[in-house]
Amino acid sequence: MAETGKTAKLSFGDKELELPIHSPTVGPDVIDIRKLYAQGDVFTYDPGFTSTAACDSTITFIDGDKGELLHRGYPIDQLAEKSHFLEVCYLLLYGELPSASELEDFESRVTNHTMLHEQMVYFYRGFRRDAHPMAIMTGVVGAMSAFYHDSTDVSDPWQREVASIRLIAKMPTIAAWAYKFSIGQPFVYPRNDLDYASNFLRMCFAVPAEEYEVNPILARAMDRIFTLHADHEQNASTSTVRLASSSGANPFACIAAGIACLWGPAHGGANQACLEMLREIGTPDRIPEFIARAKDKNDPFRLMGFGHRVYKNFDPRAKVMKQSADEVLDLLGIENNPTLQVAKELEKMALEDPYFAEKKLYPNVDFYSGIILDAMGFPTSMFTPIFALARTVGWISQWKEMIADPQMKIGRPRQLYVGETRRDYVDVEDR
Ligand code: CMC
Repeated sequence: MAETGKTAKLSFGDKELELPIHSPTVGPDVIDIRKLYAQGDVFTYDPGFTSTAACDSTITFIDGDKGELLHRGYPIDQLAEKSHFLEVCYLLLYGELPSASELEDFESRVTNHTMLHEQMVYFYRGFRRDAHPMAIMTGVVGAMSAFYHDSTDVSDPWQREVASIRLIAKMPTIAAWAYKFSIGQPFVYPRNDLDYASNFLRMCFAVPAEEYEVNPILARAMDRIFTLHADHEQNASTSTVRLASSSGANPFACIAAGIACLWGPAHGGANQACLEMLREIGTPDRIPEFIARAKDKNDPFRLMGFGHRVYKNFDPRAKVMKQSADEVLDLLGIENNPTLQVAKELEKMALEDPYFAEKKLYPNVDFYSGIILDAMGFPTSMFTPIFALARTVGWISQWKEMIADPQMKIGRPRQLYVGETRRDYVDVEDR
C-alpha cells in the first residue's frame, strides 16, 4: 500500500487523533484505523462492512459505479471473450498471464489431479440421495483434509501450492459426482484428454451404457460461465474463506466454509432462486405483479438476480451472460424460450421503473446464468455447485495471498454490545 503522507483528523470528546490515509492503485483512499482503539478507546461500527477495507489485495478490482471488473488489471469482458478458464486461473493465482509453456505446464498439473481418492466413493454413499448437491460439496470438500494429509500444513508454501492445484482440479469431479449421486447414476471418472469444461460436462452427462460426445458449443459456454464466476474481490464467501484461514485452519476446511457461505440466496444461491422465480412468473403479463411485490416493503420478496452491494450500474458479467444466453439458445436451436423472454421483459420493465432506477438496482451475474445452465440440461440444484466450482480459484488465490502477507493476523471483529450489564445469578426456585 502506498504511503500518501495524507492524514484524517478525528476529534471526539477531548481527544484528537490523526489517522494515516493510504492510497490504492485505483479506487477510494482508505483511512487506517488500526491504532484507533489503542489511542482513542473507541471502535468503528460497520455491520455488513459497507465502508470497511479488510485487507490489501492485488487480485481483483471492481468499480461499482462504472460497472467494471478487472482481474489483475484485465477487464472481465476481454477475458471472457479471448481467454479461457484455466488461463484465468493462472492469472488469478500467479498474477500474470502465462506464456505458452507456463500454461501447458499449469494445465498438465491441474489435469493430473482430477481424480478423487477412491475411498471418497463411500463418503458420497453416506449421503441421502435427495441431499442438495451443495450439502454434499460442503461435506466432501471439508473431508478432503482427511484424505490429503500431505497438503494441509499452511506454513509450507509447497503444500499450499499442491492444495491449490488439487482443489481446482478436483472440484469438477466433486460437483459432477454430487449430481450423479442425486440422480442415482454411476460416477463417471475424469478423462484427462479433455479440457476442463468438457471433462466436467462429460462427468455430469455421460453414462457407461453409451458413448458421449461433448458438444463444443456447450463446452465453450460452460468455460465462459466458469470464467465469469472465477473471482469477485472480498465478497461474503471470499471473506469467509479469509476469516476461516486467518486462524491457520487447513485449506480444505476453509474452502468448505466458503462453499457453505456461497449457498445462501443473497449470494451464490441466487442463480437457483432466480430461475425458480422466472419460472414462477411464467408469462410476461405476470411481471407487473412481481415487480409490485419486490417494491412492497411489507413483502419479503426481492427480484432475484437483481441488485448488488458494489455494482450501482450494470454488472459487467451479466452483460456477457445475457449475450451468451442468446448465443447458446440460438446455437442449440431453442427458439422462443419462455424463461428467456420473461427474463428480458422483466429486466426491461424493472430498469424503466423509478424504484429500481433510484436504488441503482441492475441485473447481476445470476440473472441470466440459470437460463444457460438450464438449456445445457442442468437441474436448478446444480447451479450453485457450478458457481462454487468456478469460484474455488478465487477463494484459493485470495487465501494464498493472505497467508503470504506478513501483516496477516487472526480476524477478530469487535461489537457494539447492547445486552444486559453485569447481574447476579438467580437460583431456579427464585426466578
Ligand atoms: N429487489 C427489490 N429490492 C431490492 C433488491 C431486489 N433484488 N435488492 C435491493 N433492494 C432494495 C432494498 O430493499 C433496499 O431498499 P431500501 O433502501 O428502501 O431499504 C435497497 O434496495 C438496498 O438494498 P440492500 O439490501 O441494503 O443492499 P445490499 O447491498 O445489502 O444487498 C443484495 C445486495 C445482492 C444482497 C441485494 O441486492 C439482493 O438481495 N438481491 C437479490 C439476491 C441476488 O440476486 N443476489 C446475487 C448477488 S450477485 C452474485 C453473488 O454475490 O453471489
